[in-house]
Amino acid sequence: MAGLMTSTVGRKYAMALSAIFLLIFLVMHLAVNMLSVFGETAYNNASYFMGYNPMIQFLMQPVLVFAVFFHFIMGLVLEYRNNKARPVKYAIHNGAANSTWMSRNMLITGAVILAFLGLHMYDFWVHEMNYKYVESLPAEQNRFWDDLHAKFADPFRVGAYIISFILLGLHLAHGFQSSFQSLGARHPKYMPMVKAFGNWYSILIPAGFIFIAVYHFVTQ
Ligand code: HEM
Repeated sequence: MAGLMTSTVGRKYAMALSAIFLLIFLVMHLAVNMLSVFGETAYNNASYFMGYNPMIQFLMQPVLVFAVFFHFIMGLVLEYRNNKARPVKYAIHNGAANSTWMSRNMLITGAVILAFLGLHMYDFWVHEMNYKYVESLPAEQNRFWDDLHAKFADPFRVGAYIISFILLGLHLAHGFQSSFQSLGARHPKYMPMVKAFGNWYSILIPAGFIFIAVYHFVTQ
């Protein structure tokens, strides 16, 4: 385990594992939130289950928070070490010819996602913690859909969310295939499949989140 953190290969491996965990979380998160488009009851039931199940609250949620911070800090460490290993910039630097915009700007798109998470936690998570643990209000099963719907009445919030989801898509467009490569999936037969799947994933997941935000905004 210590070796995982002390070598560059080990750190990349750990980074990729945290990325794949977060990729799976995003699919689940989208699925639960998509229920809010299909009906209040379905969304309220799912949110109640997620919000009051001790396994999810006290095991899955701390693991998720750890994965988010780990991914962010490890990204910074890997970038710092990369730059240190290459103190002199290449004489002929033609980034666009050798790499994509997405791969060169993972820190920038990652920072925007982190800023989005700050706003997002304030919007939903802080509110939820306050409700349950500060004010200790009774477990009311039918409040979740109304809370969510009300958040998307504000066009500035909807705009900020949409911009963040587009940058999330750009982050995923490189991050998806990169994490599989770090785990050793470099086979010429399978890599095109991983890339194609990653491209679809990085379009469909953010598009799904955008759809939810726009849906709640236009149905106010
Ligand atoms: C329209 C889009 C989205 C909606 C409506 C939405 C809704 C929510 C809600 C209601 C919660 C509170 C759950 C609770 O603790 O009771 C939450 C938590 C969270 N969301 Fe989102 N979310 C959206 C997009 C995203 C995206 C794109 C990300 C990641 C980049 C994300 C990451 C998180 C995280 C890390 C949590 C805290 C963990 C949790 O409590 O499940 N969300 N979201």
